[in-house]
Amino acid sequence: MIQENVDITSRHTFGIATQAQAWADYNSVDELRQIILEAKERNLPIMPIGEGSNLLFVKKYEGLLLHSAITTLNTTPVDNNEILVHAGSGWIWDDFVAHCVAQGWYGIENLSYIPGTVGASAVQNVGAYGVEACDVIESVSLLATDTLKECTIKASECNYGYRTSLFKSEWRGMYIVTGVTFRLSLTPRYTLDYGNLRQVVGDTPTLQGVRDAVIEIRRKKLPEPSVLGSAGSFFVNPVIGREHYQKLLEKYPEMPHYEVNDEQVKVPAAWLIDHLGWKGKSLGGAMVYEQQPLVIVNTGNAKPGHVVQLAQDIAFSVFENFGIIITPEVNYVY
Ligand code: EPU
Repeated sequence: MIQENVDITSRHTFGIATQAQAWADYNSVDELRQIILEAKERNLPIMPIGEGSNLLFVKKYEGLLLHSAITTLNTTPVDNNEILVHAGSGWIWDDFVAHCVAQGWYGIENLSYIPGTVGASAVQNVGAYGVEACDVIESVSLLATDTLKECTIKASECNYGYRTSLFKSEWRGMYIVTGVTFRLSLTPRYTLDYGNLRQVVGDTPTLQGVRDAVIEIRRKKLPEPSVLGSAGSFFVNPVIGREHYQKLLEKYPEMPHYEVNDEQVKVPAAWLIDHLGWKGKSLGGAMVYEQQPLVIVNTGNAKPGHVVQLAQDIAFSVFENFGIIITPEVNYVY
């Protein structure tokens, strides 16, 4: 089941030429167990990979990449208003969203067209247009990498936050996500207050209409991974102290923000980067995307070093000008 020395250039959305020492697809939890056992015997480090839409391979990966092909789907009605939908981790995220919309299940339509897989959505807590995966995740099914036992963890125990979870911090490497259970609504429930979404959706929202509107907005702003490699937003939006924000407002009264709590606000990194004139700037094959400067694209022949250097230069200039540290959302894989 394990393939050796695999070219993974097309298996991550940046499309930067690279290799992995080993790669394995698995169709079931039992297959995953066998593969991990073999990796342990060979002392191979392991790392799960979905569509590779949030990764920057800095060099050849010296280990085994584990790719889920578990695409099971089970439903449990809760009552007349809600349904629990359990999806295997290998579902392509947007295929899963399309399926839910077609079935008339409300809750993840705003997350249409996000690259990635169902498994990754629970690790990364993907979010867009006012909705985050954790708003609808009920629980996460896992395989523990040390004991090889299965377990299910409730979403409330995963410490979900903006693009974070315990799977990305304290639990990193301890579990492989094998499936995710979502609590979706059977009756209309829309979130339309982000940006111009309501305007694009129009006066009579429908589930499919919201999905179509989100896809339309995303297509205009974000590069199509099959055409122009990228890993989506390269940085997370920084959260800063309110005092710091007030000081910056004196100098930049037009600076947008999102409320976080009494002490903190979130500032769109896209605005900071745009304001400093980075749009369209390039370094080697890496370029700041014109339509959305939070995205770094591979114009064709980017080397990992180009992306790393460009990201560092952007972060440095943001710090120099605004005193704000922006950190990558993208995971660097060494
Ligand atoms: N902006 C500019 N110039 C630009 C683009 C944006 O100044 O060229 C400013 C505007 O003020 C705009 C604000 O930035 O209102 C926010 O822009 P946008 O709505 O495009 O969202 P974002 O904060 O840049 C986040 C997510 C996206 C998600 C959108 C919509 C992060 C790191 N990124 O981007 O997620 O699609 O909101 O919800 O939170 C991803 O994670 O890969 C991703 C694409």
